[in-house]
Amino acid sequence: MFAVHLMAFYFTKLKEDQIKKVDRFLYHMRLSDETLLDIMARFQAEMEKGLGKDTNPTASVKMLPTFVRAIPDGSENGEFLSLDLGGSKFRVLKVQVSEEGKRNVQMESQFYPTPNEITRGNGTELFEYVADCLADFMRTKGLQHKKLPLGFTFSFPCRQTKLEEGILLSWTKKFKARGVQDTDVVSRLTKVMKKHKDLDVDVLALVNDTVGTMMTCAYDDPYCEVGVIIGTGTNACYMEDMSNIDLVEGDEGRMCINTEWGAFGDDGALEDIRTEFDRELDLGSLNPGKQLFEKMISGLYLGELVRLILLKMAKAGLLFGGAKSSALLTKGKIDTQHVAAMEKYKEGLANTREILADLGLEPTEADCIAVQHVCTIVSFRSANLCAAALAAILSRLRENKKLARLRTTVGMDGTLYKIHPQYPKRLHKVVRKLAPNCDVRFLLSESGSTKGAAMVTAVASRVQAQRKQIDEVLALFRLTREQLVDVQGKMRAELEYGLNKKSHALATVKMLPTYVYGMPDGTEKGKYLALDLGGTNFRVLLVKIRSGRRSVRMYNKIFAIPLEIMQGTGEELFDHIVQCIADFLEYMGLKGAQLPLGFTFSFPCRQTNIDKGTLIEWTKGFKATDCEGEDVVDMLREAIKRRNEFDLDIVAIVNDTVGTMMTCAHEDPNCEIGLIAGTGSNMCYMEEMRNIELVEGDEGKMCINTEWGGFGDNGCIDDIRTQYDKEVDEGSLNPGKQRYEKMTSGMYLGEIVRQILIDLTKHGLLFRGQISERLRTRGIFETKFLSQIESDRLALLQVRRILQQLGLDSTCEDSIVVKEVCGAVSRRAAQLCGAGLAAVVEKRRQDQGLEHLKITVGVDGTLYKLHPHFSRVLQETVKELAPQCDVMFILSEDGSGKGAALITAVAKRLQQSPREN
Ligand code: BG6
Ligand code: BG6
Ligand code: GLC
Ligand code: GLC
Repeated sequence: MFAVHLMAFYFTKLKEDQIKKVDRFLYHMRLSDETLLDIMARFQAEMEKGLGKDTNPTASVKMLPTFVRAIPDGSENGEFLSLDLGGSKFRVLKVQVSEEGKRNVQMESQFYPTPNEITRGNGTELFEYVADCLADFMRTKGLQHKKLPLGFTFSFPCRQTKLEEGILLSWTKKFKARGVQDTDVVSRLTKVMKKHKDLDVDVLALVNDTVGTMMTCAYDDPYCEVGVIIGTGTNACYMEDMSNIDLVEGDEGRMCINTEWGAFGDDGALEDIRTEFDRELDLGSLNPGKQLFEKMISGLYLGELVRLILLKMAKAGLLFGGAKSSALLTKGKIDTQHVAAMEKYKEGLANTREILADLGLEPTEADCIAVQHVCTIVSFRSANLCAAALAAILSRLRENKKLARLRTTVGMDGTLYKIHPQYPKRLHKVVRKLAPNCDVRFLLSESGSTKGAAMVTAVASRVQAQRKQIDEVLALFRLTREQLVDVQGKMRAELEYGLNKKSHALATVKMLPTYVYGMPDGTEKGKYLALDLGGTNFRVLLVKIRSGRRSVRMYNKIFAIPLEIMQGTGEELFDHIVQCIADFLEYMGLKGAQLPLGFTFSFPCRQTNIDKGTLIEWTKGFKATDCEGEDVVDMLREAIKRRNEFDLDIVAIVNDTVGTMMTCAHEDPNCEIGLIAGTGSNMCYMEEMRNIELVEGDEGKMCINTEWGGFGDNGCIDDIRTQYDKEVDEGSLNPGKQRYEKMTSGMYLGEIVRQILIDLTKHGLLFRGQISERLRTRGIFETKFLSQIESDRLALLQVRRILQQLGLDSTCEDSIVVKEVCGAVSRRAAQLCGAGLAAVVEKRRQDQGLEHLKITVGVDGTLYKLHPHFSRVLQETVKELAPQCDVMFILSEDGSGKGAALITAVAKRLQQSPREN
């Protein structure tokens, strides 16, 4: 009995002594709670640094956005391929995910070796090897010629700008293949796969193993929002609020961040806790100076740390009686499996003896106890360090959510965590101590990271399918050069029809004579009134022209025309106009002055004289009754009479295109074309009298108001009209009319956009499939909003804000799509307008028999002026389609009122001395 006690006492004493000895020797490796809290705080600061746009470039913890935005919701399904490269084993897998009411995942997999020649050889050969293994897998599973999406778990730090791309920042762990760093690993893989005839796969997602692990675990536990690997390497990812991720646009929802915590300390932040053994191990590694945190923690390094410690202790005579075996002197002879085995609860000591003996050593009982304790200290430190970083992540999550207590799940994987007998327990305990306000569940990923990678791929493949649908819609708006040439040709033919006496009556492009014969010559002078009706604003102006210096002074006032007046009776409309004139005269102190008046009336009028204009039909937003077929000058005169307060001398009625051309011609006599790209779309130009069959005389030129908005009303451009154009037409005040205008002008572009958005929403491709009341509202996309949305300077968030102001509750993804839709619609508009203009300048060139034509176009209209790209695309198109014409564009800064006044001045002069005519 006594002997047994004595033995026990002896053993306890021996153990105590050995432990004390090792503790003393490895004093520096034992981290107090205080130190761990300090490391936790440092890691918190590192995360902040990695997330900041300005601080990220110098941050050692890279906090990489993964473009994985949500955890699985159970709706994922399909068949996927998967590669899992970078952990201790390389695997190829097939994953079948099905919904069927309950979640169900089936996997088939095959391991392939990764010899050093492959992992440390030539980069292209590495990818070829991967592709070969994939091809082999597909052959053995009978999957050849099946097109499957692939998720690529690639467990190295990659910078991603989208899910299906990743630039390798640096190799870590055992890999060091040449020529891969700084390249996109997805395109590298895709490229080599192309060489395999029987491989037809689409790499849809690149996923870090931490992300795959988190997603795998989240499939079973929706609380899982962190993934941790403690295997060959170590790393963690977690769901971060988008508003905290500076490197990615957008601020709603969350995105998974791959922290790459293995690099913590690479900037020296952990020097105080690193030991001489850590430094020695680092120097002998494939990547000295890098992944310093990982090298204190993960499986690839743990055994080596133990070996270096044992060697030093042996050298100091503290172990094995000072003896060293050649195995003990050899790098890599102790690995994680050994450490785990030596720390086993009951067999540990026996295992230690055996392992040491295998290393050619002859350990005493005391040696074995000491070695076992070395292992404990090294693996305990590993768990402690991991716990500190993980606790930092958990605290951050809790703070992000502004919760007093956080309930969460951490998905875990990695051989060290899985095979080491004490590791999980120790880790869990320390995490709970360091993050006392978090209730953490640790969930082991039994099936590796692939199930999760398949979930990510499933979502990506759904997004890809949706993207395809969106692209199909946008493709309808993309015109080829041939189509534009065709439009140009058709426009040219319509111009001729309209000029031709026989076909004129039926022509859809009306080619209306304006009785404006010449350009201002600088001698015009006097005071004039002008009205400007039909664009965005109704204006009354006083224009003072001084001769000689071509200087013009203008005073104007904008008046609103309420919708009920625009669409009421003609009498009401003209009474309202006269009321506005009266207000203006009063305001300017001109009551009683009998001034000549030029009336810019931006609608198609048949003229027989400069002061006679019969409205053919309303266009745009006007629909007042009893006006069509009437002379609007007479209607204005009658309204003035009805009011019986003042008299005005209405000298000229002018289309806005004509007014614009004249305004610009006052500065540039070469300006012989007027273009409006505003609420409506139209163009006028100076035509040879001999070509204008409707008007007597062959001498000189006259301005023709083409009214090209009606181009296509005979169906000649129906081949490029989309269902959306038709819908807009049907919902307009003048169905079937002004088809070209409805594809090119401000009043309708927003409507086309709205129709497309409704359609995309119906197909579940936008606004979460919900068509809001706002989206049903006609006219919400005014030209100015389109212009704002398409501005290049605008960040996504600002686009989203504009949409939200319009009452459209859009996500950032939605905003991208809306912007693209706007872009497609406005680009087509500018191109069509350019094709029309090209037809006119080419006609002018050919009519004059010129090799080259130099001509200036005076332009006005909110679409042209406000839109960020319209004018450029228009000009490019003209250049492309009419290469022999040198077309200059000048913007009418003063509106068409000035031009109307100039026309009035000329007409007045002619009235007074008719002989000049
Ligand atoms: C596996 C995952 O289970 O664990 C891999 O499928 C991951 O994606 C690996 O890289 C990490 O552990 P280890 O120990 O193999 O590096
Ligand atoms: C103005 C002209 O500048 O532009 C108007 O003065 C013209 O006559 C208008 O109708 C066209 O643009 P919008 O965009 O106002 O229709
Ligand atoms: C290394 C890699 C990292 C990976 C980890 C675990 O740290 O850099 O991307 O997640 O190992 O495999
Ligand atoms: C409409 C009108 C036309 C006008 C154009 C621009 O097309 O019919 O007369 O020039 O809009 O305002």
